[in-house]
Amino acid sequence: MREDSFATYLRSLVVGADTPVSIANGSRRAAINFDNAATTPPLKSVMREIVRFAPWYASIHRGAGVKSIMSSEMFEQSRDIIKKFVHADADKDVVICTKNTTESINILAYTLAGCGSEEVILSTDMEHLANDLPWQGKFKVDYAAIDGCGRLSLESLRQQLTKYKGKVRLVAVTGASNVTGYINPVHTIAQMAHEYGAEVFVDGAQLVPHCAIDMKPHDSAQHIDYLAFSGHKMYAPFGGGVLIGRKGAFEHSEPVYKGGGIAKLVTRRFIDWDSPPYKEEAGTPNAMAAVAMVAAIRKLSGIGLNVIHDYEHNLICYAIAGMRSIPGLELYSCAAKNEKRVSLISFTLQGIHHKMLADILSVEGGISVRNGLFCAHPYVIKLLKLSDDDIDYYYNKPNARFPGLVRISLGLYNNYREIDMLLELLHRIACNRDYYKRKYSESAKARLKSIQQEWLLASRRKLP
Ligand code: ALA
Repeated sequence: MREDSFATYLRSLVVGADTPVSIANGSRRAAINFDNAATTPPLKSVMREIVRFAPWYASIHRGAGVKSIMSSEMFEQSRDIIKKFVHADADKDVVICTKNTTESINILAYTLAGCGSEEVILSTDMEHLANDLPWQGKFKVDYAAIDGCGRLSLESLRQQLTKYKGKVRLVAVTGASNVTGYINPVHTIAQMAHEYGAEVFVDGAQLVPHCAIDMKPHDSAQHIDYLAFSGHKMYAPFGGGVLIGRKGAFEHSEPVYKGGGIAKLVTRRFIDWDSPPYKEEAGTPNAMAAVAMVAAIRKLSGIGLNVIHDYEHNLICYAIAGMRSIPGLELYSCAAKNEKRVSLISFTLQGIHHKMLADILSVEGGISVRNGLFCAHPYVIKLLKLSDDDIDYYYNKPNARFPGLVRISLGLYNNYREIDMLLELLHRIACNRDYYKRKYSESAKARLKSIQQEWLLASRRKLP
């Protein structure tokens, strides 16, 4: 399919979209990055802002010098920009700057746990481990189930809310799955949670870079109480993430991390903690992460998240349609046309282990994908319909290779040409399975290693 000028424009926005890498046939081609759900490349505008801000870079909230004051001012203003981006309340909500979504959820879990451990957290069977493990050990945790296609069952969620009526502290749900790409109806879920007196947390790591999100006013039944997302998945590296939520929730708890910058006064007799968000940001805050995130927000908002979503949606639908014609390829999952999804899809190719398929795509095509369980082990295990016996077999038997999936996840700079190259290679692999299995089999591991080494060396030579 031919690219239009809009796709070309989007591609021009990121750093490294056409970085050449060596592939198995000895030629070089532009690396194809289909692993954006893990980490996106930086936007050029983000890098420009980093360089533009660098001469003013100094300590945040710690100095009387002009640069320190400028840096602190920039840092505080970034909270307002982030709030506006997701329609958080200017006064009632706080933006806590963290290092990523995982840290944000851990902070929220520790903070809420202080309020009473008899309470229940309702998570779901489709969560990333970051929205599952932090709740465990602090609360009773139970899960809303998924349906046969891997979508969250709202019926199951309601049943769980009814079962634990009066005890549910929070419904913790992903905005979009990092495995199937399904977008959850977060406002409907918020309304359900509120009906039962619970609050709602949305893990926005996979949603925010691809869709507009509206936390809605505090008096709306559909208000999202807490939201977290990461800079490195939205074209803004430098180690920033955020936790946004009701200021009151953080007012009376002990800070999770302790250190400088979080107390008004510490004596040997008492500690007077600062107010949120400051009391949750021990140590020097990450100014560059804030610069990066604001620059990314400006660029993404300038293009329009709805426009980005439509472009990426068409792209993933094109990929899915092409994959359907590849013999032995199974999609996880794609139940209905026009299903609400972000731009990723997972799959298997019959007879070829997920790790081997990921290696083949990398070495033969310079195509980066992710494979395995994607830090969402219970969800992938359910999608693959693995029984406890299966799990024990694969986990305990030496040399048994645990099943898993291969995932492509697209960013705004990916294009139809890249999808065509993926489809062509998948087709070639599917039609020549025995050849590729031999080439990349255990006995050929040494050869694979040497191809990868050659690949790495060639790539390194090109590093600036
Ligand atoms: N959670 C990220 C992913 O799915 C790292 O790849």
